[in-house]
Amino acid sequence: MARRHRSASLKPGKPQAELELTIGMIGARGDGVAVAGDDRVFVPLTVAGDRVRVSLGPSSGEGRRGEVTAWLEQSSRRVAPVCPHFGVCGGCTLQHLPEPDYLAWKREQVNVALGRAGLSGEAAPIIATTPPGGRRRVSFSVSRRGKAIVAGFSCRLSHRLVDVLECPVLAPHLVALLPVLRRSLIDVLADGEKAEAVASLLDGGIDLLLIGPSKLDLTARLALAALAEAADLGRLSWQPESKTAPEPVAARRPVWAWLGGVAVAVPPGGFLQASLEGQAALIDAVLAGVGPGPGVVGDLFAGSGTFSLPLAQAGWRVHAVDGNAPALAALARVATGLPGALAGSAPGVTTEGRNLDARPLTALELGRFSAVVFDPPRAGAVAQAAELAASTVAVVVAVSCNPATFARDARVLSGGGYRLVSVLAVDQFLWSAHVELVAVFRRD
Ligand SMILES: C[S@@+](CC[C@H](N)C(=O)[O-])C[C@H]1O[C@@H](n2cnc3c(N)ncnc32)[C@H](O)[C@@H]1O
Repeated sequence: MARRHRSASLKPGKPQAELELTIGMIGARGDGVAVAGDDRVFVPLTVAGDRVRVSLGPSSGEGRRGEVTAWLEQSSRRVAPVCPHFGVCGGCTLQHLPEPDYLAWKREQVNVALGRAGLSGEAAPIIATTPPGGRRRVSFSVSRRGKAIVAGFSCRLSHRLVDVLECPVLAPHLVALLPVLRRSLIDVLADGEKAEAVASLLDGGIDLLLIGPSKLDLTARLALAALAEAADLGRLSWQPESKTAPEPVAARRPVWAWLGGVAVAVPPGGFLQASLEGQAALIDAVLAGVGPGPGVVGDLFAGSGTFSLPLAQAGWRVHAVDGNAPALAALARVATGLPGALAGSAPGVTTEGRNLDARPLTALELGRFSAVVFDPPRAGAVAQAAELAASTVAVVVAVSCNPATFARDARVLSGGGYRLVSVLAVDQFLWSAHVELVAVFRRD
């Protein structure tokens, strides 16, 4: 039970109060939650059973934020975080939970989403898929301050950067990029300028896409070429923020991703699932959900074919749709065997570039598919879900990295007569509050 300390008021506008609270649970964003009067207080880095004194921050729609000013009693259900940056870095929020509690919390987030969607059923026990050091894709923030480059992630609740020295989540090759970025980008960024470094560990080497503000002069170009050598990159590209297309700076080796037995030359910075283990778990769940072929599957929000190509390998014909032209072009190259394909081809795959928010596949168009896989970005796919709900497709497999938008879209499917058959929660984003899931729906 939460206890009030002094005569603190939770009304906005009053002087900042301090409260003594007992944390009751961990909320959807990974913060501990305590009840204070009629309000909920979200206290980062705490677990159920912690007794803390907090200073109250501003109100949000859901409650108040509280920052710990004193630990009164620590719960027995906390472990020492493995990363020295934990608590400051905004990347991980849940390193202080014992693994069973951590996995149970992630599974619970999916069950809460099912409840919100009005669906009966429970997520299967979570698959802990991404081991420490297993993450193969990252976006670092980089900024020049005077004569130094700071490279890492945003601090918790702030735009300030943590100069990251180690990261137990990332593949060690990606962590090793950080000192090279610090040395090299001093000749690329002016004081105060910022860049984003999107790095993927692919077959063939690291693909690094730098997104920055400036035009590259000769010194900057030479510095980037030296960066590619020093970090032994496979490919380095530069994209001024104002432009959408990256320009190649160094292509030292071909880089590709194996998907369904085919080597796909993904575009610079192109989307891939965050870890190989996570990708394998999602592919297995999608194949099991769709079931045995033959027939035609629609893969909506297909990217470069993470699901299309394994489905084709399993004997399905696949129609892959995505709004990102370079990602889809990489898939089209292996589908058609056009020049640029590295190894293998997938003649059973057709592709279509289309904005599925503005122009979802209609119920009529969906009629030719035996099954549909859809894997939208975090915003979900409510327009596409509405067309699916009106369609005759027998099986819909929803892949989602956001339980909240999944709940909204699942409610639409269920309203159209789909029955939830199974849900699997996958832990692809180690120690963060993000949860990935695969849900299988059928209509009889
Ligand atoms: C979560 S990724 C999944 C990609 C792919 N299924 C995979 O696993 O690699 C979401 C995909 O949705 C695409 N996308 C985002 N908004 C879109 C839209 N409005 N219409 C079509 N595709 C969109 C992105 O280009 C991206 O490839």
